[in-house]
Amino acid sequence: MTVPLPDSVERVLLDEATIAHRVQEMADAISDDYRGIRNEDFLLVGVLKGSFIFLADLARRLTVPHRVDFIAVSSYADSVESSGSVRLMLDTRADVAGRHVLIVEDILDTGYTLHYLYRLFEARGPASLRTAVLLMKPERRKMDVPVHYLGFSIPDVWVVGFGLDYADRFRTLPYIGVLKESVYRE
Ligand code: PRP
Repeated sequence: MTVPLPDSVERVLLDEATIAHRVQEMADAISDDYRGIRNEDFLLVGVLKGSFIFLADLARRLTVPHRVDFIAVSSYADSVESSGSVRLMLDTRADVAGRHVLIVEDILDTGYTLHYLYRLFEARGPASLRTAVLLMKPERRKMDVPVHYLGFSIPDVWVVGFGLDYADRFRTLPYIGVLKESVYRE
């Protein structure tokens, strides 16, 4: 049975099976790299809200023990363009110092958000600091930031689903779809 796309979605960019396969590969790579780590030493930090589904899927596929925490920042609000100014809205509950931290992001666009977070965590003295990013738009990048685990490079189109939103809609679509331009140009 084929579920029709919502009116605002032009096409599917990455379907459920493609995403699941790549997330499994990322989880395998992470599990290999962190083999032998103790639960209390490995902290996955999901960046709210966009990463919540990616984090849930990635974390459940890891074969190494880990803790899960969250951080929330605000940059876009409900507008289309990134302002470049990132604000910390909610901090992690766990102490980062001395722990192996993996920042989990849904999308790297201009890079302002991840750059801000990388520097924030770096200053807190983690044992190590890495990033796992599901999607990256290379054409849009303004800030250089290390990406250790990458899902997909995608073109400069507005994507929704699998955690990603447009004005807080479409986050729970099971695939990643391309939003019709008419929606965000309105
Ligand atoms: C999105 C996304 C990243 C950020 C990437 O978050 O989840 O955190 O933008 O953009 P950048 O590389 O240009 O900084 P958004 O501010 O839309 O909030 P959300 O995660 O709550 O949807």
